[in-house]
Amino acid sequence: MSGEVVVWTYDLWKVYRTPHGTVSALKGVSLSVRRGEIVGIHGPSGSGKTTLLKILAGLERPDRGEVVVDGYDLNQLDDNGLAMLRNTVVSLIPQDYGLIEDLTVFENIELPLLLAKVPREERRSRVMELIDYMGLRGRERARPRQLSGGERQRVAIARALANTPSVLLADEPTANLDYENAIRVLELFKRVNKDFGTTIVIVSHDPRVLRYVERSFIIRDGVLKEVPPQEALGSSSA
Ligand SMILES: Nc1ncnc2c1ncn2[C@@H]1O[C@H](COP(=O)(O)OP(=O)(O)OP(=O)(O)O)[C@@H](O)[C@H]1O
Ligand SMILES: [Mg+2]
Repeated sequence: MSGEVVVWTYDLWKVYRTPHGTVSALKGVSLSVRRGEIVGIHGPSGSGKTTLLKILAGLERPDRGEVVVDGYDLNQLDDNGLAMLRNTVVSLIPQDYGLIEDLTVFENIELPLLLAKVPREERRSRVMELIDYMGLRGRERARPRQLSGGERQRVAIARALANTPSVLLADEPTANLDYENAIRVLELFKRVNKDFGTTIVIVSHDPRVLRYVERSFIIRDGVLKEVPPQEALGSSSA
C-alpha cells in the first residue's frame, strides 16, 4: 500500500460487559486507510461497525490494540486530549445525526467552532460557507424537526466538517434516506473528498454506497477483512 496512512488500527479488541454477560464487539481488527481515500465498511447488524467508528472517533476506548488517527496515538491521549481531537482531526456523523433539537441549523453547525474557540465573525462566515456548500441556504433558522431527513443529514455533515477534519466517519449515512437523497449525500461525500482531500470511512448496509468507495471491508462478528467490491455487495443484504 502506497501513500500516507491516516487511519491505522492494529489488533483492536472491544468487549462490552452487561448484566446479562459479555459481548465481544471487535475481535482483533486491523485496518489501514490512506489519506484521501474513501472506504466502505459493510456488515450485518451487530457485527461491530458502530463500535469501530466510535473507537476511531475517540468516543470509546479499545480493551486492547493500537489506534492511530492522523498521527495521534489515541491510547496515549487522556479524555481531554480525545475531546480536542474530536471534530477537529476526526469527526463522526452518527446514524441518528445527533443534532441538537433546541438549536437552529446555523447554531448546530456553529457548535464545533464555538468549542474550538473560533472568533465570532470567522464562525459566521464559515457556517454560511458550509450552508451554501451543503445546499441549505434559507434553512439556517430552522430547527432540526422542521427539516427533511436529507436536510438533517446534510446539516450533520456540515457540522462534522466545520473544523475541516482530516478524517470523516459516517455511520449508515443513507439508511433513512430515499433514493434521491441517498445519492445526493453520497455525491456530497465525493465532492468533500475531492475539494478538501478528506479521508472518508462510510459504514453501511446500503449497496448504493459501494459505487462511491475505493475499497471495501466486511465485518462479521467483530472480524474485519478487505474484500473486492463485488463481494461486499453480497454481504450487504445480510
Ligand atoms: N454500549 C454497549 N453495551 C453493551 N453491548 C454493546 C454496546 N454497544 C454495542 N454493543 C454490542 O456490541 C455488538 C456490536 O455492536 P455495534 O453497535 O458495533 O454493531 P453494528 O454493526 O453497528 O450494528 P447495526 O448495523 O445494527 O448498527 C452488538 O452485539 C451490540 O449488542
Ligand atoms: Mg451501528
